Amino acid sequence: MKKQYFLIFSLLCLFLFLTACGKDKTSSSKQEEKKEPTYSFYKKENETRYEDYKEKNPNLSMKDVIIRVNIGLDYPFYTNTKKSPYLNTSKLLVNKYFYLGEDYVPNHLVELDTSISKGGISLVEEASIALRNLIMDAKNDGYTIRAMSAYRSYQYQVNLYNNYVSQDGREDADTYSARPGFSEHQTGLCVDVDNKDASYTDFESTKEFGWMQEHAADYGFILRYPKGKEAITGYQYESWHYRYVGEKIAKYIKEHDITFDEYYMEFIDK
Ligand code: DAL
Ligand code: ZN
Repeated sequence: MKKQYFLIFSLLCLFLFLTACGKDKTSSSKQEEKKEPTYSFYKKENETRYEDYKEKNPNLSMKDVIIRVNIGLDYPFYTNTKKSPYLNTSKLLVNKYFYLGEDYVPNHLVELDTSISKGGISLVEEASIALRNLIMDAKNDGYTIRAMSAYRSYQYQVNLYNNYVSQDGREDADTYSARPGFSEHQTGLCVDVDNKDASYTDFESTKEFGWMQEHAADYGFILRYPKGKEAITGYQYESWHYRYVGEKIAKYIKEHDITFDEYYMEFIDK
């Protein structure tokens, strides 16, 4: 009789032990599921902004929330702006939150000759060499690409932006033209292109656009304002505007289908 009690008692203990182990396992794996990976670009000072932005955008991953808040996208465009660091490097970010001083003129601007441009326009030397290689290789493949606008001074952008504002009003102009100091053209690292036949605004409909989609990154250029990324870049899609970031960054951006703003927050911003 005693033996039987002992056996029942032992089995009960074993059952309780195994149940406890099972529970432990489930709760620890649940904890693991919940645990967010840590991101090197997480900023403690932005914690409440991340929480608020996640609540308003529940479908975004936490990584995207952090990156977008770090860009400044939880604030209206042109608010909470910062002077951009990394001047005179191909890492320089200019958007609706990062600006250049009125007096910023990049070093080593070189004029593009008329074999690759409409004439009278300049780029930073490194970008100009990459653009020449790109245009010459495109030409060998039977494609015509020409630079129509490149470096623009602060004052040039004042006049350009003001003209667009008088033409379309400030709200519309802001969707396609940068305010002075906030134009990437002031970096001397970007270029608007056409194919000589169609206006640059129709570049998307040309065969040269297809060539650029395939090859621009090999020369270090990215399409800076892609379709579908308007909420991140702050601008309408521009099929003609290419930014020099160097081959490694351009290829990464293309492969991962992200914007330079996102790349910057993930890998460059400190
Ligand atoms: N069109 C681009 C956004 C600029 O004005 O710089
Ligand atoms: Zn442009």
